[in-house]
Amino acid sequence: MSEGTDGAAADRELLERIRAAPVLAGPLLTFDPDRAPGAPGPLFAAWLDRALADGVPEPQIMTLSTAAADGTPSARVLMLRGVDSADCAVVFAGDRRSGKGRDLAANPVAAVSWYWPAHGRQIRMTGPVDALDAGTARRDYLGRSPASRAAGLAGVTSAPLGSLAEYARERRAAQERVAAEPDAVPEGHTVYRLRARQAEFWQADPERGHLRLHYTRDGDGWTRTLLWP
Ligand SMILES: Cc1cc2nc3c(=O)[nH]c(=O)nc-3n(C[C@H](O)[C@H](O)[C@H](O)COP(=O)(O)O)c2cc1C
Repeated sequence: MSEGTDGAAADRELLERIRAAPVLAGPLLTFDPDRAPGAPGPLFAAWLDRALADGVPEPQIMTLSTAAADGTPSARVLMLRGVDSADCAVVFAGDRRSGKGRDLAANPVAAVSWYWPAHGRQIRMTGPVDALDAGTARRDYLGRSPASRAAGLAGVTSAPLGSLAEYARERRAAQERVAAEPDAVPEGHTVYRLRARQAEFWQADPERGHLRLHYTRDGDGWTRTLLWP
């Protein structure tokens, strides 16, 4: 079941290929920070809208970074499940018994980030995270496809899985449960809302004149600052 090759020579060869791989090659989009809105939510919505319109692959996929009570960080990829651009908040979902759920219970603040290579754009947000009510979690879950609902009902995200045979058995049982009980929702399913305290927009330039615009929440408004890239 092993994949790949071993050894320092293979690592060097891999590194050479990594170094030769094109990055930020363009053509990329441009960005004029002087014309950016006074709040980051509308800018996020505009960049996401453009990514969707241009067919950027999976622009709804984001990295969520959390920290455990002892400060140990963890990052993983998730789906964006909602946007509140007026308040610069984003919504995602997962099991509260998973690693991220445990981190957020102990330390309810997180970072989310996106990178859309075809546009040369990175967006980052950090802020406090709230778990939304059970009705919201239920609606979120029941809006998913039967296959996705069955996947969430088999086992508990991040708990050890005994064997592939157990996996196949539990998946089959979950598919049967979804057919018999279409309203079933996993006990731990939770919708979370991150309200940005800070947001940052990074526009790459093939000539390396990258631009970085940072927003910090300031009372009811936002302070905008250019940062060295
Ligand atoms: C494209 C993609 C989308 C994903 N979407 C979600 C999601 O919306 N919610 C979720 O809990 N896990 C999602 N996952 C799985 C997570 O990356 C992760 O493996 C899982 O949530 C367990 O992480 P944790 O132990 O840090 O909680 C997704 C993975 C990929 C690759």
